[in-house]
Amino acid sequence: MNKNIDNMRIAGKALRRILDELIKYSVPGRNLLEIESYARTLCEKENVKPECLNYHGYPAVLCLNHNNTLQHGIPRDVILKSGDTLGIDTVVSYMGDMADAANTIPIGEADSDKRMFLKSVKYAMDKAIAIVKPGVKISSLTKIMDGVLRANAYDPSSVFTGHGIGRKMHEFPEIPCSIEICFGKSCQYVLKKDDTIAIEVIASMGNSDVDILKDGWTAVTKDNSRGGHFEHTVLVTEKGYEILTL
Ligand code: MF3
Ligand code: CO
Repeated sequence: MNKNIDNMRIAGKALRRILDELIKYSVPGRNLLEIESYARTLCEKENVKPECLNYHGYPAVLCLNHNNTLQHGIPRDVILKSGDTLGIDTVVSYMGDMADAANTIPIGEADSDKRMFLKSVKYAMDKAIAIVKPGVKISSLTKIMDGVLRANAYDPSSVFTGHGIGRKMHEFPEIPCSIEICFGKSCQYVLKKDDTIAIEVIASMGNSDVDILKDGWTAVTKDNSRGGHFEHTVLVTEKGYEILTL
């Protein structure tokens, strides 16, 4: 079955409301397990299906990327405190059509270096999205994201990437934010009208190399540096783009 863009739009709008609600809920003193549980309630309320749950055995609705967790953090029994950073990443579907988005937020009084880092990661994503239109190569998006991050001495991930999205969470092409892994068919791919892509910037304030914890998912930075992750699902339109998760 082909993807239905109107349904992806519905999923995207619902996902934005869910993320905005979870962002407000993520205050000092809050347990990560409470955020996961609230996400389940919100998905029911919005009538969307949480797609991460059971995806290749993933055990939760959310990826909660706390402090040194770069990606795929399984929510665990941890209480947020002021100065922490938290990435909230999830995928939902409406009638089987998906939307994927993520934000990373400072909790309470985070230092200005952490706030600046998160601003840069978001800026890298926004700058890449801004050039999306038919005819643009994936490698052009990668160069922009990589360039913004490295100009600020942050390290883009050479492991995790953005991706096409539709009836499946992860579709062709892969969209890296690091030029180190930008080669092959995906990076040569030229965008066309009605493509739907998840543009993700995944970076560390230090070195982005990761270890995967024993749970098989949670990817933490080897050097314990903070991670940052922003993501939007974007539709390529005739003249440019539409952000479906805005
Ligand atoms: N945005 C994440 C990704 O594309 C969502 C992961 S959901 C999970 O990898 F189930 F795979 F964890
Ligand atoms: Co994604």
